[in-house]
Parts: sequence; C-alpha cells; structure tokens
Amino acid sequence: MVYDIRNKVILITGAAGGIGAACARELYANGANLVLTDISQKSLDTLASEFAKERVLAKAMDVTNWSSIKNIIKLTITTFGKLDIVFANAGISWKESAYTVFNCDESEFEKIIDVDLLGVWRTIKTSLPEIVKNKGQVVVTSSIYAFTNGMCNAPYATSKAGIEMLSRSLRAELSGKGASASVLYPGWITTPLTDGVFGGDRLTTEMREIGFPPFLRKAISPEKVATALAKGLTQRKPRIIVPARWIPIQLFRGIVGIFSDWLLANHKRIQSLVLDLESRTKKQK
Ligand SMILES: NC(=O)c1ccc[n+]([C@@H]2O[C@H](COP(=O)([O-])OP(=O)(O)OC[C@H]3O[C@@H](n4cnc5c(N)ncnc54)[C@H](O)[C@@H]3O)[C@@H](O)[C@H]2O)c1
Repeated sequence: MVYDIRNKVILITGAAGGIGAACARELYANGANLVLTDISQKSLDTLASEFAKERVLAKAMDVTNWSSIKNIIKLTITTFGKLDIVFANAGISWKESAYTVFNCDESEFEKIIDVDLLGVWRTIKTSLPEIVKNKGQVVVTSSIYAFTNGMCNAPYATSKAGIEMLSRSLRAELSGKGASASVLYPGWITTPLTDGVFGGDRLTTEMREIGFPPFLRKAISPEKVATALAKGLTQRKPRIIVPARWIPIQLFRGIVGIFSDWLLANHKRIQSLVLDLESRTKKQK
C-alpha cells in the first residue's frame, strides 16, 4: 500500500544541514507540512523562508537535550494538531581533525555518541506516542558506516551501527501497531561533513582512496538522498540505501566485512597513515 506523504506532518532534525535541507525541499514538494529543527534558529529561518509560512514550523532544537525535544513535539501538536513522521537526521563527526580511539579526546568521543546515537534515541522516544497514534513512520539517518569499518571515525561508526539496530528493533516492535521504522543508509554525500575525506585532510583522503574501490569512492548530491527518502517513505521501505551501488555491499556485508577488516589491519600504507595521523594530532594538542 502506498503511504501518501501529502498533508503529513514531518519533523526533521539537522534540517539546516546538507541532507536535512535537501530532504525538507523534496518532502515539501511532495505535499508534506514540515517541522524544521536544528541547533541554530538563524539557519532554520533562512531555510523556512523558501516555504509557505502555514506549512512550516522552524524552531531550534538540540537533540542532546530532552526538554528541548519535548517542547518542540508539544509545539508541533499545537501548530499542526499531529506528528506523522519523525526523521532523526542530525549528526556530527570529529570537529576539526580525525582521531583514533587511542589518541582521541574522551569528551569529543562522547559528544559524538551523545548527538549521533543518544540524540536519535531521544528524538524517537519523544515522538513515538504521536507516531504510533497516527500509524506513522520513524526514519533514522544511519550510514554505510553501520556496516563498513569505522577506523579513524569510531564514535561516528559506533553510533551509526547503533541507530541502525535501534530502528530495526523498532520496526519489528511497531509492526502490530500499524506504524513503521526505516533506516536511511547514505553513501558518500557532498556536504560539509565529508569535506575532510574529500581533500580537506590529506591523510583521511588517502585512507578513503585506498580503503574503498573506485566505484564506491564517488560522492553524490544530497538531492539524490532526498529523492530516495521520499520514495522510501511512500513504500515504508525498511532500508533506503543510496546510491544503489551500496546495495550489494550491504547485502553481503558479512563477507565484505571480513575481507575489509583484514585489509585495513594489514595494509602497510594505511597503517603508516594511522601513525601519521596520531603523531600529527599529538603535536596539535
Ligand atoms: N554527508 C555524508 O556523506 C553522510 C553519509 C552518511 C550519513 N550522513 C548522515 O547524514 C546526517 C546529515 O548530515 P549532513 O551530511 O547533512 O551534514 P551537515 O553537517 O550538513 O548536517 C548535520 C546537521 O546536524 C545539526 N546538528 C548538529 N548537532 C546537533 C544537535 N545537537 N541538535 C540538533 N542538530 C544538530 C547541524 O547543525 C547540521 O545542520 C548526519 O546524521 C550524518 O551522519 C552523512
């Protein structure tokens, strides 16, 4: 059965970012009413100015803060009378430089988990009564990092694997209630989050080039993610994998994982890049 997005109320976290804004535009074009949330009110106002006022609520919301989320859910009900879909999309990675588990700062590691894993949990948990009531949908922005090795990006990959399982568990639990949960798995997308591995950082750029075969290295635009998301929602897809070249990798993730874990641990150049990265960040401290 087709799930019609028209007139549905969709809350997006991280809406002012690359993927969030592209998805907001696509879902709006498909007839949805939007609750746009992110850290900065200013960037939300800029995005909201593209849309008709009566179809959009744009409010700052921090996914690391329970009461901030609860307030926005209440405001959503006051404004639109309901919430149908929650798109838990906000996410961060290392602030400036990449680190290993060995040399990272404890507080930065935990901050990434707080936003990328616990932030998604808080967003979902607070929205669920409405989602269940309206037989709606939960979508989380996981990543190919849920099933590829997360070296030098461990708190991010840990979170993405965690929210994948959170959403998969939830889908099974919600099934009898007529609601559903989906996992969005973007590959490499051209947003500020990937600036480092696409030339901004010499070491992690080289790691990506060695660690992934050419056909998996290319980045795609956030608009392609948005098209896939809208289509996935209309079909209540359990998995939305974009670009499609990642579908066979996700399907054979067990075997691919054994090979890639071995390669990364045994590749001399990659191991020397890890040492370079650790000595560079030590000097910066
Ligand atoms: N860019 C990629 O290649 C890629 C690939 C796979 C998955 N993802 C995921 O897609 C999602 C969106 O990322 P993006 O690429 O658009 O990056 P982005 O940096 O453009 O957007 C992320 C947004 O999250 C917001 N945010 C950060 N901390 C927050 C908090 N505490 N509360 C609320 N909002 C917060 C930021 O302000 C930003 O607008 C993230 O979860 C990211 O991990 C990105």
